[in-house]
Amino acid sequence: MATTYLTTGYSDGDVDTNFTDLRTLNEIADERFSRRQTLMGGLTASLTAFLGTSVLTACGGDEVVAPAETLVNAGQDAATTAGRMVTIAPNIGSATAFSVEQFSGPQVTLMGTGATRSFFAPGVAQATTLGFRIAANNQVDDVVITVNPAELGFTSVARNLNDVVTVPSGHNVTVLTRLGDPILAGAAAFANDGTDTNFAARIGDHGDALYYYGLSAAGMRDDFSSTRGLIVQNHENLNEQYLHINGPTNNAGVRPASEAIKEIEAHGVSVSEVQDTGNRNWVVVANSALNRRITPNTPMAINGPVRGTSFLQTVASPTGTTSNGTINNCANGFTEWGTNLTCEENWAGYFRRDNSGAGTDNANRTARELTALRRYGVNSTTGNNSWSTVSTTDPVFRRWDARAGTGAPTTDYRNEPNTFGWVVEIDPFNPNNAPRKRTALGRMAHEGAWLSNLVEGQRIAVYMGCDSRREYMYKFVSTATWTNADRNRSDRLAVGDKYLDSGILYAARFNADGTGTWLPLLFGQVPTRPAVGSEPAYTFESQADILVNTRLAADAVGATPMDRPEWTAVNPANGEIYLTLTNNNNAGRPITGTDAANPRSYVEPRGTGTTTGNPNGHIIRMREAGNSTAATTFTWDIYLFGADSTDASANVNLSGLTNDNDFSSPDGLWFARPQNPSGVGRPLLWIQTDDGAFTDRTNNQMLAALPGRVGDGGARTVTNTNGTTATQATFVGATATAATLRRFLVGPREAEITGVDTTPDGRTLFVGIQHPGENGTPAAPSSNWPQSQSGTASGRPRSSVVAVTRADGGIIGL
Ligand code: FEO
Ligand code: CA
Ligand code: CA
Repeated sequence: MATTYLTTGYSDGDVDTNFTDLRTLNEIADERFSRRQTLMGGLTASLTAFLGTSVLTACGGDEVVAPAETLVNAGQDAATTAGRMVTIAPNIGSATAFSVEQFSGPQVTLMGTGATRSFFAPGVAQATTLGFRIAANNQVDDVVITVNPAELGFTSVARNLNDVVTVPSGHNVTVLTRLGDPILAGAAAFANDGTDTNFAARIGDHGDALYYYGLSAAGMRDDFSSTRGLIVQNHENLNEQYLHINGPTNNAGVRPASEAIKEIEAHGVSVSEVQDTGNRNWVVVANSALNRRITPNTPMAINGPVRGTSFLQTVASPTGTTSNGTINNCANGFTEWGTNLTCEENWAGYFRRDNSGAGTDNANRTARELTALRRYGVNSTTGNNSWSTVSTTDPVFRRWDARAGTGAPTTDYRNEPNTFGWVVEIDPFNPNNAPRKRTALGRMAHEGAWLSNLVEGQRIAVYMGCDSRREYMYKFVSTATWTNADRNRSDRLAVGDKYLDSGILYAARFNADGTGTWLPLLFGQVPTRPAVGSEPAYTFESQADILVNTRLAADAVGATPMDRPEWTAVNPANGEIYLTLTNNNNAGRPITGTDAANPRSYVEPRGTGTTTGNPNGHIIRMREAGNSTAATTFTWDIYLFGADSTDASANVNLSGLTNDNDFSSPDGLWFARPQNPSGVGRPLLWIQTDDGAFTDRTNNQMLAALPGRVGDGGARTVTNTNGTTATQATFVGATATAATLRRFLVGPREAEITGVDTTPDGRTLFVGIQHPGENGTPAAPSSNWPQSQSGTASGRPRSSVVAVTRADGGIIGL
């Protein structure tokens, strides 16, 4: 009788011999009698799954039940939860011909080669049984494993202010890519003392959102590879004090070119290959042909309705069809066709303007242009880092001076700010492909761009936040309907053209009754934006105008101003959309200005002082009407409210947080991949913080959650106390419990936790640690991470990516 292998479920063929192949029945018997943790994930309940008489027989003791030749015992039925490792160890006596077959339930991949097999329990939404049949010696016996929905599988990490990444016991942290690590030829080893150059060949600073793209052994795209891949990471910003020997300098107001180019090139996006050298020991492949740096100087195409319009004409691109580079790349998105969406967030501050009116800048601009510039905050008199002071001729520096001259727009960089604020699509598998700016998705302080779950024949939706106080949430709905045949095309950016260059952009209005409306931003339908204070009314002249000035259009249609929209995430099991609203202050949200979707206003004790407004933030979630990506209405509730559980009142701590799961200023947000059990049935949600209100108690953190669904809580009236007292009706999701929300990770000092993904198998978690020690100086760094992770309390801090694995090789979180 031939051995039967079940091979679906995992396609990477990863047979982990740690658990089964090398174990003898005697070892299993030892485990049985010593009560050691024999199953991955601490699955005590399933221990019984292989405690049949086989073990007793094999152990050679006195309890021989029957001659092995006449006995086949599959073991006792057992129960477990999604994602946990289960081992079936039947007794087949001395039979050498046998089979192990699954006969019911969602098909799993059985690992191992003998009669003893292991598998990861699949993700399920409700209790589900899996049946296995063991055949040998012309006998058969069955064992049934009941899999219940996922449960969190780790002990909550305590709040702390340590200068390390803290993870639950049983987990390991490996530092992968770090600021300055050379990934391309031409960069020497990183000295980390301010002398380093050539950041266009190194990992950039302030690593933000990241995503893992699997590679086959041959180095080709393989969405199921968990042993080799590319990490695509954004590099949002700088800790410029650590990039130079004694911090940044200038000479009578002029920045040295050597410093400015370092700062410019430390922005952008990195693509770096990583490999598992065995048992999830990850290394960076420094010389990979797929490694790439995309910087503010990387040529890019401009696509979509704004391409070729006068809004984008500059001396560098008189036709308005190209742009150089990307900057302040914050959150991201990935597409099912294998590309990366990097999002330009706080680009506005990099440009020099003349707000005094002393020069020709304002005089040479129309009132409409000035309204637009003010609405986007393009109002710095120097530009961040004063890069334009380096040269009045070299475009690498000159472009950051957006002052309008007396000539035509094609003679200067007055429109350069209009070439930023977009979602940019990158093909990570082809370093030669110029990225494309997708103007159909609108121009804003783009935080992220997360796609809806793709359904054959349905339009694609992209959910996006614009991160500033009182800004909006958006969705883009493609004209083209999805076809699965596009998933594996090799012309990936052409697939992007198909879905991301034509469609309708909407802004969200959250109604007081728990419903919401997607308001189309379509030329001919968007009314004139009324005058606001001294700002004149703004009448849109074209669809390109609406897309360049998306914020003005959303004002005009009456979208709901939110408490700083950050990341979006889509539940892979039910399509519900989550949006972090990181915080707001009294200026952005006074107690008289709350609404149902932004309902809190309070005083938060912090150390010896206080912060006020909605300093701890919340997470809202939405369900599209009819579960349709193209719906124009939705329902919503507030999934979670941040709070300091130690001193928050019941009207602030609305989600019932405790020491084990309290948090503040949610920012990064990511559902587990549906390629493994943690993203199926009852998917895991990872929540990352970028906080300034709770840092007296703990460094920034990442939590793991098992959310329910819109409507699992109920209506609630909040009593706000912030100077005066007022009430606000809202809709609150189910209270958080230890079963549904736990702190998984706490970062080092002065770091934000941002960027999260796993390998497709869910067994390696990648996390971005951004700007440790951001308030320190070169002489006195306020963090020594990542050196401190291995006990060295010295050296300048570096933003880095860590890989988190479990000592037992299990799926992270479950
Ligand atoms: Fe770059 Fe809104 O965080
Ligand atoms: Ca962010
Ligand atoms: Ca942030």
